[in-house]
Amino acid sequence: MLHLIGPFTQILPLTDLPTRGSIADDELVIVENGGIVVEDGKVVEVGNFTTLREKYESATVQVVGQAMVALPGLIDAHTHICFAGSRAMDFAARNAGKSYLEIAAAGGGIWSTVQHTRAASEEKLAKLTRKRLDVLLRRGITTVEIKSGYGLSVEQELKQLRAIQKAGQGHVVDVVSTCLAAHMKPRDFDGEAEAYLEHILQDLVPIVEAEQLAQRFDIFIEQSAFTPDQAISYLTKLKERGFTLTVHGDQFTVGGSAVAVECGALSVDHLEVSGEEEAALLAQSDTIPVVLPGATIGLGCPWGKARLMLDAGCALAIASDWNPGSAPQGNLIAQAGQLAAFEKLSTAEVFAGLTERAARALGFSDRGTLGGGQIADIVAFPTTDYREILYQQGSLGPSQVWKAGAPQL
Ligand code: NIG
Ligand code: FE
Repeated sequence: MLHLIGPFTQILPLTDLPTRGSIADDELVIVENGGIVVEDGKVVEVGNFTTLREKYESATVQVVGQAMVALPGLIDAHTHICFAGSRAMDFAARNAGKSYLEIAAAGGGIWSTVQHTRAASEEKLAKLTRKRLDVLLRRGITTVEIKSGYGLSVEQELKQLRAIQKAGQGHVVDVVSTCLAAHMKPRDFDGEAEAYLEHILQDLVPIVEAEQLAQRFDIFIEQSAFTPDQAISYLTKLKERGFTLTVHGDQFTVGGSAVAVECGALSVDHLEVSGEEEAALLAQSDTIPVVLPGATIGLGCPWGKARLMLDAGCALAIASDWNPGSAPQGNLIAQAGQLAAFEKLSTAEVFAGLTERAARALGFSDRGTLGGGQIADIVAFPTTDYREILYQQGSLGPSQVWKAGAPQL
C-alpha cells in the first residue's frame, strides 16, 4: 500500500552528503514543495509533491496541514535515561565551586544515582524510561540509545537492562540498549578495578548474551573510572564474544579515543579535551566521534571538539547524553543549536550529526536519511526555512513525527 505524505515546504533528505569531514550548507539537497512516498514503512521516493501525486496515482495521500520542513527522524546515539532520582544538589554544588571529580570523590556524582536506581523496582524504572521516551518522540527523536551503568552489580545491571528492554517494547521510539556496567568501579565491590571488570565478564556478560539484553558495551575511561589498559583488556574480550563497542573518552583527560580506535569501537563519545593527535587518529579509523553538548551545558565545561574533528576529516555525530548528573536537560535540538554557535558548525554538519552519522555510530545503515529503502522516520518542523530549526535553539519543536511512515503526534 503506497502513501504519499506532503506537501512540505522543504524536505532535506540528507542523502548524498559526504560520509566524512566538513559539509557546507550549499551541499544540502533541498526539495521544495516536496512529498515522500512510503510503502511498508520504508521510503520509496522523495520528490516534488505534484509530480509524485501523478506518478503514484494509486497512493493514499496524507496532506500535511501547514508549512513544514521535513528531515529524517533524529537519532540520539548516547543517553542514560534509565535512572531514578535527581542530582540537582550536584548542579548547585558544582556552581558553588566544587568540580565534577571532587563531587564524585566525596560520594556524590554517579554513585548517588546508583543508590536511587538500585532502590527503584524494574517496573518503576521501565515507567520512568518510557516517560522519557515519550518526551524524546515529541522532540523528533525516532531512535535512541540507552545505557545501563547505574546498577553496577550483576543483579542491578540486569534489572536496569531489563527495564530498558521493557520500556522499549511496544514504544514507538526504537531503543538500542548498551551495557555500561563499566561506568565506574562500585564502592561496594570488594576488589580492584581489574577484578570488577573480570567479574562483569564472567558473571554478567553470559546472561546479557543469553537474554539478548544488549548487543553493545561501553566503558568510561577516566581517572575516576577505568584506565586505558583496563579498558583495552575488557573491550578486547567483549569484541571476541561478538559485541559492538563504544567508549566514554577524552572527557577530562585524553586516552579514550586511542583505546576506541585500537579496539575498533563504533564510537568514542565526549571529546572535550581531545587534540589534533586524537582527531588525526579518529580520522584514519571507522570510529565515529560523538560530541555531547548537553554535558558541556550541564557541567559548564568546554565543548566537545566538533570543529576539530570535522576539519580533520571525521564523521561527527552529536548526541544528548541525557542523564541526571552531567546532562540533565536532554533537549538535543536545543543543545545542537548552541553547539553550532560555539563550535561554528554548518547546519548541514549538525543535521548529518543528528541523523546519518549518528545512525552509523549505532551501526545502522537502514535509517538516518530519506533515501529510497530507508525506514520512513520523519520529523517535520512548523517553518518554511530549514535554518530556523537550529537558529531557534530548541524553541521550535516539531509539529509532526512519523515512525515508519505512521504519524505520531
Ligand atoms: O556521559 N561521563 C560519564 N558518564 C556520564 C555521566 C553520568 C552521571 O554523571 O550520572 C556522562 O557524562
Ligand atoms: Fe554518557
